[in-house]
Amino acid sequence: MAGHSLRAYRTVVLAVFVFSATSTGAEPTARADLDAQDAKRVARVVSPTDDFSKPEQFEPMQAGAATSTANANADAFSHFSSNLTFAEEETFKLGNALFRKLWVSSPSSTQASDGLGPLFSARACQSCHLRDGRGHPPEGNPDSTSMFLRLARPARTDEERQAITDFRTLNFPDPVYGEQLQELAVPGIAAEGRMRISYTEETVTLGGGETASLRKPVYTVDDLAYGPLGPDTTLSPRIAPPMLGMGLIEAIPEADLLAHADPDDRNADGISGRPAWVRDHRTNEIRIGRFGWKAQNALVRDQSASAFAGDLGISTPDAPRHFGDCTVAQTQCRAMHDGVQARLGDTEAPDPVLDLVTFYSENLAVPVRRDVGDAEVLRGKRAFYNAGCTACHTPKFVTTRDAANKAQAFQLIWPYSDFLLHDLGDGLADGQQVGVADGREWRTAPLWGIGLTRTVNGHSFFLHDGRARNLTEAVLWHGGEAQNARNAFAAMVPDDRRSLITFLESL
Ligand code: HEC
Ligand code: HEC
Repeated sequence: MAGHSLRAYRTVVLAVFVFSATSTGAEPTARADLDAQDAKRVARVVSPTDDFSKPEQFEPMQAGAATSTANANADAFSHFSSNLTFAEEETFKLGNALFRKLWVSSPSSTQASDGLGPLFSARACQSCHLRDGRGHPPEGNPDSTSMFLRLARPARTDEERQAITDFRTLNFPDPVYGEQLQELAVPGIAAEGRMRISYTEETVTLGGGETASLRKPVYTVDDLAYGPLGPDTTLSPRIAPPMLGMGLIEAIPEADLLAHADPDDRNADGISGRPAWVRDHRTNEIRIGRFGWKAQNALVRDQSASAFAGDLGISTPDAPRHFGDCTVAQTQCRAMHDGVQARLGDTEAPDPVLDLVTFYSENLAVPVRRDVGDAEVLRGKRAFYNAGCTACHTPKFVTTRDAANKAQAFQLIWPYSDFLLHDLGDGLADGQQVGVADGREWRTAPLWGIGLTRTVNGHSFFLHDGRARNLTEAVLWHGGEAQNARNAFAAMVPDDRRSLITFLESL
């Protein structure tokens, strides 16, 4: 039965590919939520501009009516979408409290906050998604909670390979340490170890005689408390990404994402772009992954339930493992007290905790653009388009009319991502397969809000592991499918390169 529905599904997917491959871009994509006239309008609105003399219509409101127009200060990422109803604002606030809540180990006197760990990476969602923004590498600070190492080994047998092909699993955990390295543990058991990063610097030469220095990280683990890692376990470093506009990303029609995919590079531009098919955790349906650095989750809810289990060690109805990421080999950890309170439910975070945190995560607003009409910004926007950045950093989408949450329906949004997987070359490769994504592929990072990173988070570390110390370095690390775009950026006269960065800072 599963085989049959999968086949039927593939046929549909194929039909969409064929349709989009033959469409010229000006033609409407196959969207079920639009009639022919609206489809034409949408196609016109999202087609890339070629006029850089002035801002485009609606350009400052990069998340449509959901955009936050609050001041661009340190709270800029923490506002709710401007178009929520009053009742939804209340739900958002309840979710916010849970996102900030510090979980404690059990048994405790507070009880309703019980269940942390036994192994964990942080005590609260907010500890990693700092001010709802992004994390950072430890940088000499012993607190490395906003970044961690994912652990996985590749398939070893045909049966295991088949499990990945059928989307039943993304990869296989380390047999002892599980899916991620937890640097913290409740009293009475040992934490797993500590991530160590060492960097080597390399100078690159840019157009106009400028130079930049890139630092290449190497990751190892110190103080492994449960014996060696598996011989084929790979380490994938991940920074906590900013929490912006995620409900809107969820509301981009699958057909529109597929319209940008070109897995076999039929248009021969060197850029493929593959959808990260994954299973929705609750219904088991196959959907496009949109969240996480390798797009390994289709829904904000799935990503949140995984965070409760893997990062905090808290069970939810969607991931009811009270022991979080403790493996069967970690017997002491498996034997620890859990935080379930029978009178509240049968998980440590029973309903409606996951619903509220998911709602919160879906409705954090994207800030309004600054300086869109500035000559320098417009010049930089032109340089961004000319260098080919938009081949992956897709400027615009119009969300579905059928969004479950009306605040996300039919909005013109500017996330600057195609949410597809791209090979970015050896320099950024982590060697870790995650479902469809191989060890060189990453999801195009959305760029909206990126210009306020320093304002909100007080740093400018970018890319999946924070190796880039500023936006220029982030672009210079691009390789693989993005090599030509990177080279165009490197070769620009200094004024163009600077204006491109000024454009990014206005997002
Ligand atoms: C230990 C640090 C840490 C904690 C704690 C944490 N996260 Fe995350 N979060 C991450 C990292 C790292 C990623 C990127 C995941 C990946 O690529 O594997 C992420 C990704 C996400 C995303 C997807 C973002 C995107 O742009 O795709 C959401 C949503 C999210 N987390 C929600 C939560 C929620 C809700 C909680 C609390 C239950 C939480 N996180 C706790 C580190 C953390
Ligand atoms: C082939 C697709 C592709 C092209 C072309 C491309 N990018 Fe990217 N970009 C990505 C991917 C994938 C990532 C995430 C990489 C990672 O974190 O390792 C990324 C990340 C970034 C980041 C860091 C985002 C963050 O949140 O840390 C910036 C900034 C960026 N790109 C700017 C540019 C600019 C400017 C250009 C044009 C010169 C460009 N990109 C061209 C795919 C692309």
